Amino acid sequence: MTSVVGSMQAPSLDVDPWKIETLLNPWEFHHLLRETGPVVQFSRYGHYAVARYDQVKSVLSDWSHFGSRYGIGISDIRAPGSWREAGPIVEADPPNHTQVRNVLSKIISPKVVRAWSKAFHAESAVVIDRACALGQLNAAKDISEAYILKVFPESLGLTPHAENMVIVGDFNFNSMGPRNALFRESEKKLEGISDWLEAARSREAIEPGSFADQVYQAEDAGELAKGTASGLMLSMYRGGTDTTISGLSSAILLLAERPELWATLRKDRSLLKMVFGEAIRLETPIQSYFRTAMSDVEIEGVLIPQDARVQVFLGSANRDPRQWNDPDKFDLNRAMTGHVSFGFGIHQCLGQVIARMEAESVLTAMLDRIERIELTGPAIYRPVNHLRTLQDLPIRVVPA
Ligand code: HEM
Repeated sequence: MTSVVGSMQAPSLDVDPWKIETLLNPWEFHHLLRETGPVVQFSRYGHYAVARYDQVKSVLSDWSHFGSRYGIGISDIRAPGSWREAGPIVEADPPNHTQVRNVLSKIISPKVVRAWSKAFHAESAVVIDRACALGQLNAAKDISEAYILKVFPESLGLTPHAENMVIVGDFNFNSMGPRNALFRESEKKLEGISDWLEAARSREAIEPGSFADQVYQAEDAGELAKGTASGLMLSMYRGGTDTTISGLSSAILLLAERPELWATLRKDRSLLKMVFGEAIRLETPIQSYFRTAMSDVEIEGVLIPQDARVQVFLGSANRDPRQWNDPDKFDLNRAMTGHVSFGFGIHQCLGQVIARMEAESVLTAMLDRIERIELTGPAIYRPVNHLRTLQDLPIRVVPA
């Protein structure tokens, strides 16, 4: 990657990345992107895209040419009529980003996260005991949402409200895309709960000792600029809720499809640590997001003009055959390092320890209590512009 002005034009594709069928089944589309070139341009929207593993990683590592501060959705935050506000960490570049990240890294330290483990494990037991009592259930709702939408808001210091929190999550990931029907529908639902949202995120509603409380305290101590804490809390909530629900549901689906693996894991948990990583490689929760070219810049000899937006396809990089052997296979023996589901470079996910702990806690409780899982119907995804997530995961559980 250099800032020398290149002479080649990116090959142009007349396809819509946000078409419902593509969101629900993106693999052929990803193949087309990767095989068309190291960088492509979408004729309908004008923006560029990288979908091969190497280019995804190099764009994400080069924050000085591919910045985040104008937004990681398609809407350029500077543009009049933009429908997104910049998040104080994820939509910032150094030096502002560095300072905020340092403060948040101290708050979400592995030690602090471990202190939450007792509460997380206790809730896993409750949720999985309930699942065993139900026998037949929708694991996406009755396990993943039921669990994450309780433990994660509580650790942040927010009072859980499952139904409203799904609306907030869907809006967050729909608003990263264009103003399409998915976006408008989400926006309408969000308007319906705006009073609840205002009250829920106000400082008075935050539980003392929680992650959000510590963020507010850092602002009081002058470590964060005045007015940053509320946006930062929202960034943690947005980044950490629906992504983890998505990853946990995918892990349950992939295990439900493999009864022999379930039986092996029940006897020997040594491969359990790999399950969540491999699930989010295959079914990358945030399939793509954006960077902005901060000056004229080249990718593999193709000119990306200043201010152009580049869509970075994590979900495609995670299945690029240039990087992965048998990329579509769920394989717990592959080297797990290197997937980009948590991003790459200076913005790499700050909450991944929390996500892993939550998922492993639930899967452990399931393996302890459930002899067998059977799928009782098709797994159905919910279309969301920038999130791959299961809506229905009908299963029957046979308690041990
Ligand atoms: C499976 C679950 C998760 C996935 C797939 C995920 C994914 C990501 C990705 C791709 C990024 C990079 C964004 C970028 O490059 O612009 C990111 C950043 C971030 N994530 Fe996560 N995340 C997960 C869970 C969490 C959790 C539980 C938290 C809890 C606090 C969290 C908080 C954050 C924050 C604060 C950032 C911004 C970091 C920065 O900009 O420096 N995430 N996440």
